[in-house]
This record gives sequence, structure tokens and C-alpha cells, in this order.
Amino acid sequence: MKLTILGAAAGGGLPQWNCGCANCDDARAGRIARMTQSSVAVSVAGERVILNASPDIRAQLDACGLHPAGLRGSPAASVVLTNGDVDHVAGLLSLRESSPFTVHATSATLDILRQPIFRVLNPDHVSQSPIALDQPFQPVPGLTVTPFAVPGKVALYLEEGEPDTALMGEQTVGLKLEADGRTAFYIPGCAAVTGDLLARLDRADLLMFDGTVWANDEMARTGTGAKTGARMGHMAMSGPEGSIACLAGLTGTRRVFVHINNTNPVLQPGSPERAELEAAGWELAHDGMEMTL
Ligand code: MLT
Ligand code: MN
Ligand code: ZN
Repeated sequence: MKLTILGAAAGGGLPQWNCGCANCDDARAGRIARMTQSSVAVSVAGERVILNASPDIRAQLDACGLHPAGLRGSPAASVVLTNGDVDHVAGLLSLRESSPFTVHATSATLDILRQPIFRVLNPDHVSQSPIALDQPFQPVPGLTVTPFAVPGKVALYLEEGEPDTALMGEQTVGLKLEADGRTAFYIPGCAAVTGDLLARLDRADLLMFDGTVWANDEMARTGTGAKTGARMGHMAMSGPEGSIACLAGLTGTRRVFVHINNTNPVLQPGSPERAELEAAGWELAHDGMEMTL
């Protein structure tokens, strides 16, 4: 299986349109690489699946040379969604020109696609296939995908009052990807590492994991806002309860952070945070990064 990071950033991208933080300024000036929003392409035996459809999908497909082989047609047979966040579903609106493909998502996420604007995905050509927790399915021949619940919350625009930020259910899933005896996990949003998750990840070849923030209070630290990572449904990389510590036992697994927020100090190549991440055996995804298992 071949995986291509179409977009390594969290919602907003790098630079983010309304942000003048050090990272966004450096990206504008070309001092650090720009990143588009959260998406991965998976290819198995000549067939392709896209994991999450970001608002940048048109440019991402173009940048990665993903286009029809013939006159018209979707370069991906399927799109699999992990939640209903804007950075993961808004790109569907750009895939509207009546080329056949299938959207696989939980019923909770498919409910969001019932909004009238998503009727641009003509049901004569685009099918919606409900997926169930812990039920494997094959979006293309040779690739088995198993969705499973990870702690998370409903999408920001669905919040009413104070949401449960570590809800287990259909609203936030991770994906286990299996092909040719190799296993990869894609978990772009996760509020906590549970014992169940650790057990699932045992002996995986590759883990692509939520790298939104380095520190829970990072938005306050960078002066960009007051919201914590936890309030956004994202666990921090650092600290005793952070992902680096919680996943430190996965030494045989290639570990790559994805869904990186523009406030994250690891985006600075010379930062102590980046050094700590790399010393712990992690990699930082970048747009166009390719991994073959
Ligand atoms: C998230 O990952 O927390 C969301 O993409 C945030 C958002 O919708 O802006
Ligand atoms: Mn997001
Ligand atoms: Zn910024």
C-alpha cells in the first residue's frame, strides 16, 4: 500500500488566512513549508482511496498528480471520512462534477451530508455507504478498512452548550488500513489514548496520529486564542498524558504526526519541541510525503 499525505495541516492550514503568528508568517515568507488541510491518499493495486476530503482537495489532487487516466473520471474510487469537521468534509463540495465514487462514513457523519448543499454530489453518481464501528469493509479490492471509535467530540458547528470532548461513538473514528499483510492506522483526531487503542495499535507498521497541538494551552501561549487542545477534542503531543508519552511503547511502529495546527512549535525545524519529537522516534508529516508499506 502506498500512502500520500495530501495535506498535513489541521483545519485552517499553514498559513491560515486570518493568522499572523510566527509560523504563519514564516510559511508566507517561505522559511517553513506551507501545509494544506488534513487528507491522505491510499493506493492499493492501482486503485485509490482518499481519507477525508479537505477544503484544499482540488489543489492537493493537482499537486500530487492525481487526475483521471482518461477523459473524465474520479482519480479516487472512494472517500472515507473520520468525522464531520469542516477540514474533513468540505472538500466533497469540490468533487461535484458527476463522476462516480463512493463516500464511506458512519451514519452520524453521513447525517451531516444530508444538508442541502451536499446534494451537489449527485446521488446518480456518488453513493453513500454507511460504515459501522469495528466492521471491516473494502473500499477498493485488496484494501480492508476497519473504523473504530476514538475519544472525540461532535464537529464544532454541531456543538450545543458544552460538548463531551472525549465521547466514544460514531462521531470520531480512527481507521485501520490493511493490505498485503501490512497494517497502517490513520487517527487525525483523538482526545486520549485508551487501553483499547493501545491494544489495537500493537505491532502496526505505520501510525498517522493527531498532531494538532504540542501543548494543551498552546493557543493561549501563542496569543492566538483561548481554546485548549482538550476543548477541541485533541490531545497534546507533550506532557505526561500527551501522545508522545502514551504511545512511547510502539517502538516497532513508524509514527508520523498529521493534522498539525499552525500554532504548533514543532513546525520550526530548530525548535526544542521538534528535537524532542524526533528524539522520541516520531516524524512530522508534510504535504506530498509518500510512504510505502
Ligand atoms: C478540529 O480538528 O478541531 C476542527 O477541524 C476544528 C475546526 O472545525 O475548526
Ligand atoms: Mn480538524
Ligand atoms: Zn498562525
